[in-house]
Amino acid sequence: RLPIIIDTDPGIDDAMMLTLAFANRETLDVRLVTTCSGNISQDKTNYNARSFLSYIGADVEIARGLEQPMFRELEVAEDIHGESGFGNVQFPAPTLPVSKRPAVTAMLETIMASDEKITIVATGPLTNVAALLLAHPEVKPKIERISWMGGAAVGGNMSPTAEFNAYVDPHAVEIVFRSGVPVVMSGLDVTHKAFVTIDEAKSILNIGTEFAEKAYHLVTYYLDVIKRTSFHEENYDQVLHFHDVCAVMYLLKPEFFEGQDCFVEVALEGLAAGATVVDYTNRSGKTPNVHVLHSVNRKAFVAEFVKAVKVISER
Ligand code: BDR
Ligand code: CA
Repeated sequence: RLPIIIDTDPGIDDAMMLTLAFANRETLDVRLVTTCSGNISQDKTNYNARSFLSYIGADVEIARGLEQPMFRELEVAEDIHGESGFGNVQFPAPTLPVSKRPAVTAMLETIMASDEKITIVATGPLTNVAALLLAHPEVKPKIERISWMGGAAVGGNMSPTAEFNAYVDPHAVEIVFRSGVPVVMSGLDVTHKAFVTIDEAKSILNIGTEFAEKAYHLVTYYLDVIKRTSFHEENYDQVLHFHDVCAVMYLLKPEFFEGQDCFVEVALEGLAAGATVVDYTNRSGKTPNVHVLHSVNRKAFVAEFVKAVKVISER
């Protein structure tokens, strides 16, 4: 089993990512979940991670992360994910507690205590991960890689050029990209291709369990708001985006994806802040620091996700 730590800001697609991760316990050994501030405040992401994971019967430590990005003021995405972060869907109060360890300490101790290298899955702003790498560089050789949902080679969903997670904390992206730790970037280039159609979402609903119904209502919640950022795909406003799911799917099924090693730099200031400049043709001559995913076998991706909802539903 692949030992992983998940850093997340649930968040609708974050919850779907957790679904996929915890449905695949035979393959993934989730040692720790930490929450970052992003889609909503830290209080809410931590609460949501605990309530969602309690609901699906996960038994895992959940640690609280940093409140604010490195230098910028936190900008949340309640317009997309709803005030609670979970649209109109409610989960019972969590039974899983808040860890006594803060996220960075919990990550450090989990990594250093492991005999095997640990993979970090990050599906929000990279604040916690960057703080870990800055404060405790000794963890670097013990990290297998960081699978991050964020960034975009072309176009943004938060500003003309920036994807949300990169936009919220570009300085954290810079620290992670320069760390020397291998990074796989599932940016909008690939996540906009990893969509689920309304009909496919209905097949989730048709599983017929309470969990499947909640999953359906979660993902269909943000369809309306997504219409506003439409530009990548034809019929973009007719489909549901499963951004964060890519970061875990890549670990489970790398053969579903295509990508390229590239040098990537993030813009830190001004209108371009958070833009990830991907040097696909290596004009800069710089050594690639990120494996940038750009394509996905969508049908296989959707089938694997629906399977995960069934697995959780049957537990
Ligand atoms: C990213 O932004 C967040 O709103 C989603 O959860 C995802 O991590 C997509 O740009
Ligand atoms: Ca997220």
